[in-house]
Order: sequence, then C-alpha cells, then structure tokens
Amino acid sequence: MAVRVGVLGATGAVGQRLIQLLDPHPDFEIAALTASEDSAGKSYRQAAKWRVEGPIPEDVAETTVSATDPDEVPDDIDLIFSSLPSSVGSEVEPAFCEAGYVMSSNSSNARMADDVPLVIPEVNADHLDLLEVQRDERGWDGAMVKNPNCSTITFVPTLAALAEYGLEKVHVATLQAVSGAGYDGVSSMEIIDNAIPYIGSEEDKLETESRKLLGEFDGAELSHNSVEVAASCNRIPTIDGHLENVWVETAEELSAEGAADAMASYPSLELRSSPDQLIHVFDEPDRPQPRLDRSLGDGMAVAAGGLRESSFGLQYNCLAHNTIRGAAGASVLNGELLLENGYL
Ligand SMILES: NC(=O)c1ccc[n+]([C@@H]2O[C@H](COP(=O)([O-])OP(=O)(O)OC[C@H]3O[C@@H](n4cnc5c(N)ncnc54)[C@H](OP(=O)(O)O)[C@@H]3O)[C@@H](O)[C@H]2O)c1
Repeated sequence: MAVRVGVLGATGAVGQRLIQLLDPHPDFEIAALTASEDSAGKSYRQAAKWRVEGPIPEDVAETTVSATDPDEVPDDIDLIFSSLPSSVGSEVEPAFCEAGYVMSSNSSNARMADDVPLVIPEVNADHLDLLEVQRDERGWDGAMVKNPNCSTITFVPTLAALAEYGLEKVHVATLQAVSGAGYDGVSSMEIIDNAIPYIGSEEDKLETESRKLLGEFDGAELSHNSVEVAASCNRIPTIDGHLENVWVETAEELSAEGAADAMASYPSLELRSSPDQLIHVFDEPDRPQPRLDRSLGDGMAVAAGGLRESSFGLQYNCLAHNTIRGAAGASVLNGELLLENGYL
C-alpha cells in the first residue's frame, strides 16, 4: 500500500517539482497540499500557476490547497515533504514533527542543528540514525531529516568519491541557475545579459553543510569533517542546473586519472529515485554544460569533467540539476531512505 504524503509549500518552484516527482511515484500517494494563506482554499491548479515543463498532473490539479498548519492536514499522513521558505519552515516544521509527522525537508532552517540529520543517501545514509537522538532530545513522535542546499549537493558527491585520498582544502566557485532563487527570486531585468557575484548566505552553506555531510556519526554524536572549504557563489542566466568549478588539495597524491576513476566508480544506491550511475565523468573538455547535462539520470545524477592536475591540486567542473537532484529529488530520495529504514 502506498505511503500517504503531504507537501508543504506545494505551489513553489521546488513544491511543483515535488508534485511532478511524487504524482507517478509507486510508493507515495499525494494526500495533502499546503501553501500560504493566499493560496489556501484554492484548487492546486489556480494556486500553483504551473511552471514546470510537462502538464500539471490532472489528479492533483483539483485538490484544494490548505493553510500550512498541522491542524489542517489529515492525521493519517505518514510522511511530509517540506519546501517552505526557511523563515516559515523554522516556525512551522517543528510544529508538524511535534504533532507526530515524519518530515523530509528541503528548507535551509535547522540543517546545521546537531540533532538533525543532513543527508545525501549515497554519501551519508548512516547519519539518518541521528533521528533516534533527535527523538530522545526533543520528545517528538515525528522526526525531521534535511537535504542540503542545491549547490552543496552538486559538489559533495564528487568530494565523497575522493575522500579516501584525504581531503584537506577545497575551493569552489559556482555558476547557479535562476530557478535556485525561486519564482520571485531574481527579476529578468537583473539577470538577462548579466551575472551576479553574490547569493545571500549561499557561501556559508557550501562551506558548513559540506563538512557536516562528510562527517562521522558514532551512534550518539556527529563530528564534522576537518576539510577546509572556501566558496564563491555567482548567479547566471540559466534556468536550471548549477555548474561549479572545484579545486581540491588532498593528503595523498591524486592524479586526474585516479580522480576520474574514483568518481565514475562511486556507487549509487538501489532506492527508487537513485540514478544507475551517480557521477558521470566526461572526457570532453567542454562538458558538463547545464543545458546538455542537467537531465542525466532523470535529473538525479551529478556530472563531472575537465579533470586536471594544477598548482592548486586537482581541478574539475561539476554540475547537477538544482531543483531535482538539488532540491525536490533530494527530498524524495530521503523519503525513500526513511521508508527503507522503517521510519514510516
Ligand atoms: N529553488 C531551488 O532550487 C532550491 C534548492 C534548494 C533548496 N531550496 C529551498 O526550498 C525552499 C522553497 O524554495 P522555492 O524556490 O520553491 O520557493 P518559492 O518558489 O518562493 O515557493 C515558496 C513556497 O512556500 C509557500 N509559502 C510562502 N510563504 C508562506 C507562508 N507564510 N506560509 C506557508 N507557506 C508559505 C509558497 O506558497 P504561495 O504560493 O501560497 O505563496 C510556496 O508554496 C526554500 O527554503 C529554498 O531555500 C530551493
């Protein structure tokens, strides 16, 4: 029997991707949609202004959108996906968990809390057991797992593939798509014919979330990885797909060929939304590119290319689809991990 799920922030850029991924999902059945007070009471079709490629799922289109409040959501929902603005999530998400709902959230609030697992299943699935600590500490029947920021998800799998060489320093410069800012994020007058070398709070997210993801969980506490990460974030006029330039210094000598092998052979998982191959490594020097490569593995794969040894260590480029692998798909994958691990 399918797990009944609710989506908080269902009308937004990530919320619409969640609907697109959850509607045909064999294990999940959409049973509740929420958004702001402005959308509450409207049909999803009216409230969402569907902007994702492909048609709005007809069986969801006439569902009435509720206000984002645990009392407005049916009790028999087993799993909540959240894609709320973080200012809203920080108020509302704990109320849902306290009311007994298990949640897979994409919002940035609480990602760095000591008792909140921040998970990319292929990288640190074992961190999910931090939920036991969370339940003990907070007294919740529910639980909250987070996925990282979209630009963090893009480069961390490549670092995980290189971890055996001893990660010491990482520099990363991002070229991020406009969908990462949400529908109302960047106006066309700001971004067309332009690049903006600033994305509020983004650099800190790459620098801190990556160390948490690559850290060790001993069953009681999580220690963060000691790798030093410095990030520089830029918004560019692509629609979807974050491209990143990465420089990595490792304790052990690492050739471009060794790095390519480590990335290409880094294992995927057998969860429903896992891509067959997690990291695609291109030999062509001008790949990956957002338009050409963001849909690899149905948008759930990471692409890497341009690997070479430089005076700053190994250098390469990587790319992922920011609203699928970087957001909605990441939350769905964490939902599948919760299901596989008996949390639902
Ligand atoms: N876009 C990305 O690539 C991306 C990637 C990773 C993480 N994220 C994170 O995902 C979250 C959502 O981002 P987004 O890009 O989807 O934003 P968005 O397009 O602005 O959508 C925001 C959603 O939250 C709802 N909402 C806004 N204010 C609310 C309130 N006071 N109470 C209840 N619901 C409210 C909106 O409903 P209405 O339609 O009714 O206003 C809408 O459904 C953010 O935390 C963002 O940082 C986004």
